[in-house]
Amino acid sequence: MLNPFVYDRPIAPADMVAREAEAALLHETIENGTNATLAAPRRFGKTSLIGAAFERADRELGMATAAVDCYGVLTREDFAARLATAYRTLPGGFTRRVARLNEEATMGAQVAGTGATLGRKRTPLSVEEPIIELLDLPLKVLKKTGQRTVVAFDEFQSVLDVPGLDGLIRSRIQHHGKAGTYVFAGSEPSLLHSLFVDRGRPLYGQARIMQLGRLPLRAAFSAVADRFEATHREVEPRVLSRLVELGAGHPQRTMLLASALWDATPARGEADDEVWDAALAGTLAWLGTEFEVMWTSWSSTERRVLAALADDLSPLSKDGRRVGLKHASSAQRPVAGLLRRGVLEGRGADLRIVDPMLALWISQLRAK
Ligand SMILES: Nc1ncnc2c1ncn2[C@@H]1O[C@H](COP(=O)(O)OP(=O)(O)OP(=O)(O)O)[C@@H](O)[C@H]1O
Ligand SMILES: [Mg+2]
Repeated sequence: MLNPFVYDRPIAPADMVAREAEAALLHETIENGTNATLAAPRRFGKTSLIGAAFERADRELGMATAAVDCYGVLTREDFAARLATAYRTLPGGFTRRVARLNEEATMGAQVAGTGATLGRKRTPLSVEEPIIELLDLPLKVLKKTGQRTVVAFDEFQSVLDVPGLDGLIRSRIQHHGKAGTYVFAGSEPSLLHSLFVDRGRPLYGQARIMQLGRLPLRAAFSAVADRFEATHREVEPRVLSRLVELGAGHPQRTMLLASALWDATPARGEADDEVWDAALAGTLAWLGTEFEVMWTSWSSTERRVLAALADDLSPLSKDGRRVGLKHASSAQRPVAGLLRRGVLEGRGADLRIVDPMLALWISQLRAK
């Protein structure tokens, strides 16, 4: 029997727990031709939700779809390549044209880099021409096939690493009208936010802001129970409660724990406390490698802030002294940095560590 819990990739629409309201809203926005931003911490299901919305836009609205992964782009050429990858499957027979534009973008960079000239003189800016043509492809698709296109720019906060790129994108897409509708998704919510709500930025006010929160615990509980049942394994309700509470509505962490629990449960057997303890210990050990790297990358005040939150203390109050923060105000800067990077979320009394497994790992680290 195959483990029914997926935790390491975007999931199919049928595997999604809850999210009906979010999916309906996103669909409606796409249908209306309104651009949207979809902000959520890492692994909250952005890419899966976009996939579900695309499937529906294709099926019900006959729209063309293109998902552009912006993660890690550092240059305009990188961005051109990502566009090309996503746009080459657009309908209308543009595959070769897209490949050529990608080549041209790379060529522009090489020539600019070496200072050589190739036929007519190129300037470093020439990379913008192929990007512009790529970005404008939805106009051609509409003209040729009559289809509207929905484009998702996933991990869009990465464009902040390429000076002026948000302005270039805006300068094109603002003329797309109904030909192109855009979903900008990002996993560093405050960075994404700054692209659309900072008056000074080119994309200011260009999209409806949507947030993806945690899964409702009740929905997580029944989804995990159903999948155990469907695969002939039982789980004690108390164990299931412990799992769902620890997962805290974090979609990927809940599925990861469920997957580990399922693996640890014998075929046709039952997950009891002992099975749960083993599954949890195994998962923590497995995640520990990644957490250690993160832990050492943080400054000592950031670690103190995280340690306080892991122990349900407020780093912004006098409680902070218990983790070595001398003044409540010394936590402000690290808190802001950790919020910006999506390690923390919320504010004031609701401030918390996004990843419940990281929180558990930190509190165990200190209890050693
Ligand atoms: N609605 C959901 N129901 C159940 N599990 C979900 C749901 N959304 C996300 N997940 C879990 O989270 C994992 C990651 O989903 P996805 O890749 O869509 O998230 P993401 O926000 O795009 O992540 P990343 O930040 O890594 O790009 C999935 O493999 C699955 O385990
Ligand atoms: Mg994703």
